[in-house]
Amino acid sequence: MIDREESLSIVTVGHVDHGKSTVIGRLLADAGGLPEGKLEMVRENCRRNSKPFEYAFLLDALKNEQEQGITIDTARCFFKTEKRRYIIIDAPGHIEFLKNMVTGASRAEAALLVIDASNGVEENTRRHGYFLSMLGIKQVAVIVNKMDLVDYSQQVFQDIETEYRKFLRKIEITPSAFIPVSGMEGDNIAVRSARMPWYTGPLMIEQMDAFVPIPEPERLPLRLPVQGVYKFTENNDSRRIIAGTLESGRICAGDEIVFYPSGKRTTVKTLEVFNAPTPDCFAAGQAGGFTMTEQIFVRRGEIACRAQEQPPCVGVRMRTNLFWLGKQPLSTERRYYLKCGTAKVEMRLEKIERIVNASNLSCQLRNYVEKNEVAECILHLERPIAFDLAGSVESTARFVIVDGYEIAGGGIITERLDEYDFNTRNIRWSGDAMTDAERARMTGRRGFVVWMTGLSGAGKTTIAQETERRLVSGGIQAYVLDGDKLRRGLCSDLGFSDRDREENIRRVAETANLFRDAGLVTLVTLISPFAKSREQARQIAGGSFMEVYVKASLETCKKRDPKKLYQKALDGNIKSFTGIDSPYEAPENPDLILDTDVWSEEECVETLVGAIRARLEENRI
Ligand code: ADX
Repeated sequence: MIDREESLSIVTVGHVDHGKSTVIGRLLADAGGLPEGKLEMVRENCRRNSKPFEYAFLLDALKNEQEQGITIDTARCFFKTEKRRYIIIDAPGHIEFLKNMVTGASRAEAALLVIDASNGVEENTRRHGYFLSMLGIKQVAVIVNKMDLVDYSQQVFQDIETEYRKFLRKIEITPSAFIPVSGMEGDNIAVRSARMPWYTGPLMIEQMDAFVPIPEPERLPLRLPVQGVYKFTENNDSRRIIAGTLESGRICAGDEIVFYPSGKRTTVKTLEVFNAPTPDCFAAGQAGGFTMTEQIFVRRGEIACRAQEQPPCVGVRMRTNLFWLGKQPLSTERRYYLKCGTAKVEMRLEKIERIVNASNLSCQLRNYVEKNEVAECILHLERPIAFDLAGSVESTARFVIVDGYEIAGGGIITERLDEYDFNTRNIRWSGDAMTDAERARMTGRRGFVVWMTGLSGAGKTTIAQETERRLVSGGIQAYVLDGDKLRRGLCSDLGFSDRDREENIRRVAETANLFRDAGLVTLVTLISPFAKSREQARQIAGGSFMEVYVKASLETCKKRDPKKLYQKALDGNIKSFTGIDSPYEAPENPDLILDTDVWSEEECVETLVGAIRARLEENRI
């Protein structure tokens, strides 16, 4: 059954004595959405039992009615305004509600937080606010009830508003409205009160209609957790089908797709379904598969996303709110598995930020979480996964924790905590990766980058290669990254425009940095004509960098011209040739100058080897 009618779920929170049920009962009665005769029936019941009528009874009567037909996890009731259907959830401290909320099984999209005007802001009221923020509910209207008991005083209302707003700001909730009401008398619930002419904001029912529903999953960015990768087996067919269920969004043939966490890209060639004609698109909720234009290698656990849409987070550390169900407490001592989408990774509990007691919502601090407790925790995964944050794409912001063979908890991810940005170029591990210092301690040395710049034909490659040979034969790990060689592979798509040269230098600098990170003396031979790009290379290497200017006059280079390139450039057969019709900015303050006009090759190599050895000595741990 598809119910296209708009509906919104609202949770009501507040202390038992603050009149939540009366407010909701009054809403149901005054908004006119009650079943025929219900109100009369409840009044009649009260009369028969000699009880004064209360609107709260109405709510109870409705709850009971609903409960007969439907399996209900918490106390809920349903009602309608002209705008839409509402599901009102009235048991925030209820264990089942908490569990469903925190695990994302049910979702309240907004909250009415009821305060008793005659009591003001109490510890309890603060707990309720904190509780909403923990569940990730952002739309909150504060209902200041029992205004009849404070003579409809504007001052009392304003004091409560000022004080509570301040508190909500601290927990990052921006209230949608503060509404002074009386559940008992019906003021400002569905009917504007004549007793509070100073209040001009929305009625409670108007505010409910103003809440915005969480968008339909189909309207959110594509999230297709990869369930499996299948190969066609017939006739040497090398195509792969990526299969899974769309948690959100849409996917169509021709879409550009990025898989996370790997970051691999491809384009959807065809959509596939078992034993049925191929559709044009799949939407949220549907299961299916697709083939790709490139046969890239992806694994179960990755999430397929559309290139133009908001990407998920990638990381290993996260702040979460979780609900614990396990027989054994959740502790920092044990290893668990975390499942999110189709990814399953080993994880450990890094830290418990706080634990909320579900019955009275008080907070406590200890280093384990017991069954039926809600806790704000930092989790640390053994390898990066892709995920979303609560409030963005809900389905991939949820996870469960597996202890042994059992699902022992579940929750939502509220923040990514990695030190390094996995989403951009710094794909480095934050916790488990070996650091520079660690590697250096073990090997006794740190690598660094020897950046050799100079005109074509100045002698960079010749000197670098001989230097490498001497260092390696002397037991020092060294490696030459040669400009010509890299231009045939890594940078084969680049030419000699200023922009392409900058990109060439950037790529080589990044590569050199990885070699340096691995502990190698990395000799780079690149014309690298721009001072700015060389400075950038120094930055990328984090300062473990030596700039060597391999100097030769243009005349010398033209004379040497080993590749006959100067000749071609002068004849106009090569464009933008450095020194001819493209500039070379000589280093102003290099760490070392090797003047090949003056020195022999042997002298230059000797000098460079000496300088490198001296630098290594300095870096010795
Ligand atoms: S850089 O300017 O981007 O640093 P790089 O060192 O990679 O240049 O490449 C220079 C080599 O490319 C030269 O040694 C030469 O063999 C070759 N080459 C081809 N065309 C050009 C050109 N227009 N300018 C400079 N070098 C060129």
